[in-house]
Amino acid sequence: SVPNPMDSNKQAWMITDMDEAMNVLKDNKRFTVDPKGLEDNNLREDLANNLDSSTPDTFFTGNSMLFVDGVDHKRLRKLVSRAFTPKYMEELRPRVQQIADELLDQVIEEGAMDIVKDYAYPLPINVISEMLGVPTSDRKDLQTWSSAIAKGLGWGRQDPSIAYSLNSFGNYTKQLVEEKRKNPGNDLISQLIIIEEEGDRLSESELISMITLLIFAGHETTSNLIATGTMMLLDHPKQLEHLKSDLGLVPTAVEELLRFNGPSTSVGPRFAKEDIIINNQKINKGDMLLVLVKSANRDEQKFYQPDELNVMREIDRHLAFGQGIHMCLGAPLARIEGDIAFTTMLRRIPNIELNVKRDELDWDIALSSQSLNSLP
Ligand code: HEM
Repeated sequence: SVPNPMDSNKQAWMITDMDEAMNVLKDNKRFTVDPKGLEDNNLREDLANNLDSSTPDTFFTGNSMLFVDGVDHKRLRKLVSRAFTPKYMEELRPRVQQIADELLDQVIEEGAMDIVKDYAYPLPINVISEMLGVPTSDRKDLQTWSSAIAKGLGWGRQDPSIAYSLNSFGNYTKQLVEEKRKNPGNDLISQLIIIEEEGDRLSESELISMITLLIFAGHETTSNLIATGTMMLLDHPKQLEHLKSDLGLVPTAVEELLRFNGPSTSVGPRFAKEDIIINNQKINKGDMLLVLVKSANRDEQKFYQPDELNVMREIDRHLAFGQGIHMCLGAPLARIEGDIAFTTMLRRIPNIELNVKRDELDWDIALSSQSLNSLP
């Protein structure tokens, strides 16, 4: 454990092995994502107040499904879960393929590209924006704000760009909702507005939080999977060769890349709802727990040679998408995007090579994520 950096009266605990990680994430009776109401623990409100009192609703400051449990979580998740089922996602495949091909068409003749800027970011932001009905001209701004938010979240970081980006993101979403109220389209935001206007299933604040969450979660992590995953393959030339010789292995390789070095390095925080003993260690009510996904995904009790990347490894479970009631809603979409992104890139650019020195790569390591700022 470490002293809780956000609340000096409480401890913060790191959960590092797979079994305990699963236990904590699945046990929403004894652990919660929502510390409100637990004694002395007003962490989320403190954070929001520290950011900027005028910050409009976003997934982080408002009422998003990520930060509530129980009936509210069930209600919010149910409203959008139909749009993310594996079956519906399969129908998106041709369009995802087309976006991937168009992005590569733009760079292939030049003979050089920045995987982050030219491929890993634009692919998922365009897919989620089309699902939600976000105009093409606005996607670049959303990407900039999302990156700043993801990078600014870190232990003890007080990055001023977070407040600016949360403000801009929240204000943008509000305007977009007003625009769609006047001119509804055949998209998820317009469907959610109908639900909000119908009555008591979705409040306006929840609607804004839901939309910012879907935009943010819908591209930030997947971009990191594509960029970091490409880098991991370049770091393991034999594995890259295996994959190129059999592109049918890509879905298996995507799971291994998620396990080995996935975008979410930790999940949480969760808060103890009561005093609990874990591994002979007392956790006090209100203490914070962070589940170290990256550590659990390399648990030597669960994986043979866990620190080796093996694109042929058959994995029955990993924690890259979390576990329990908050397990990633967009996992089926992320898997399809990962499959298409790697397959298309390796098919069309089989001789991919890094164009900077390995130790000159510009990594950003934040509280619960890691990303590359560029990958030439
Ligand atoms: C939740 C990872 C892609 C939407 C989560 C969680 C993780 C995660 C670890 C659980 C957080 C927690 O328990 O505290 C990832 C990774 C992705 C990815 C690694 C890509 C490789 C996506 C996509 C979407 C999405 C494409 C599409 C909208 C969500 C939502 C939640 C979530 C809405 C909250 C679910 C809930 O609270 O019930 N994601 N995600 N994610 N993810 Fe993803």
